[in-house]
Amino acid sequence: MEKLWTGRFKKTLDEAANAFNASISVDSRMFREDIAGSVAHAKMLAECGIISAADRDAIVAGLEGILADMESSALAPSPEAEDIHSFVEAELTKRIGDAGKRLHTARSRNDQVALDLRLYLRGRIDELSDEINDLIAALLDVAEANTDAVMPGYTHMQRGQPIVFGHQLCAYAQMLLRDRDRLADCRKRMNVSPLGSCALAGTTYPIDREMTARLLGFDAPCANSIDGVSDRDFAVELAADCAIIAAHLSRFAEETILWCSREFGFVELDDAYSTGSSIMPQKKNPDIAELVRGKSGRVYGDLTTLLTLLKGLPLAYNKDMQEDKEAIFDSVDTVSDCLRLFAPMLRTMKVNRAAMRKAAADGFINATDCADYLTKKDVPFREAYKLTGGIVAYCIDNGKTLETLTLEEYKGFSPVFDADVFDAIDLDVCVAKRVSFGGTAPESVKAQISAMRDEI
Ligand code: ARG
Repeated sequence: MEKLWTGRFKKTLDEAANAFNASISVDSRMFREDIAGSVAHAKMLAECGIISAADRDAIVAGLEGILADMESSALAPSPEAEDIHSFVEAELTKRIGDAGKRLHTARSRNDQVALDLRLYLRGRIDELSDEINDLIAALLDVAEANTDAVMPGYTHMQRGQPIVFGHQLCAYAQMLLRDRDRLADCRKRMNVSPLGSCALAGTTYPIDREMTARLLGFDAPCANSIDGVSDRDFAVELAADCAIIAAHLSRFAEETILWCSREFGFVELDDAYSTGSSIMPQKKNPDIAELVRGKSGRVYGDLTTLLTLLKGLPLAYNKDMQEDKEAIFDSVDTVSDCLRLFAPMLRTMKVNRAAMRKAAADGFINATDCADYLTKKDVPFREAYKLTGGIVAYCIDNGKTLETLTLEEYKGFSPVFDADVFDAIDLDVCVAKRVSFGGTAPESVKAQISAMRDEI
């Protein structure tokens, strides 16, 4: 395929250098955006009197034909082409002749690639937001079915206080809601059109940048042509948002892995989301959750790639920037895969409420409630805390729990204790009483669920 820059050159590109220089294997996925950008550009050129209406019509029809053929796979991006931009232009010229050669008037691949990437990533943000919504919906459904499933809440991986399982799931749903908001913020800053920045300095042609911005659904054209072709901060920002999503998912994956271990047994993943071992016949492994946990590493790596790529890069366009696509595509693809697998894995998972309750009943997680009981009887909290600590130590030494101590034993620690202490340390009562806003009481969790349902 003839290079776009023939004229100045006496020799063709070395074969290995040619392969090294090409990006078509990576950027051809932006063919729809490339064509949409060119259609808008051609319409604007005609509107401004830069090309004729006849040329515009030929260009638009030609591009529409290329789009249809690429959609149906009748036309595949040629590996001979350097990138998707040169491929589409060459194919157009092959189909319509000279009019095709007029398309690149008042444009450069520098603003073209910046445009395509913004358009493509904008679409991916919308898809990611939908996938996040689906995962939140799955979380809320499972949470709703478990607003009264008492389990231990942990700090330092030690049993801390009783909570309900639905509360724990809602915590992840809240994180994902913020992730979705972050994407919406990112989209706002991304949604500015670089088209018309041309190579870097703008153009002498009387173009209308507002028009192309409007046709392509942008909020405005970018205000500085050098900035328009130089920065990739929108990709960095999206990669950072993806890294945070990956962090959230990896924590959730880790908990899921722990919960389905024999040691916890709180949940069982469906066979459809588990694998076996090649040697240990009893094994059922949470591979999907483990991969979600592990893939966070490459998503963080993609962010680092992008930041490192831009560091110290002089303005305006440099070929280094061609490397941006592999990283940001990988970041978005990976996070999207994780989100799309997590939702059905969650929906099909069995929740073992009995195992959760058993763990909750064995670990003195109602000790805070015992101290609170004393505080309500006017014992200062610090004293109540110390007294309860002594009771726990006594229980450990004597193989008892707070529930199995007799009233006499309680009274031995403080005369303030009465028979109502047993009600105060009952696990269901302990959770039911935590009605503070955002707390673990089933009522509070239900309110949280319904507020989040409104948001999705
Ligand atoms: N394939 C290039 C990229 O992805 C397109 C822009 C090329 N521009 C240039 N002046 N060489 O960055």
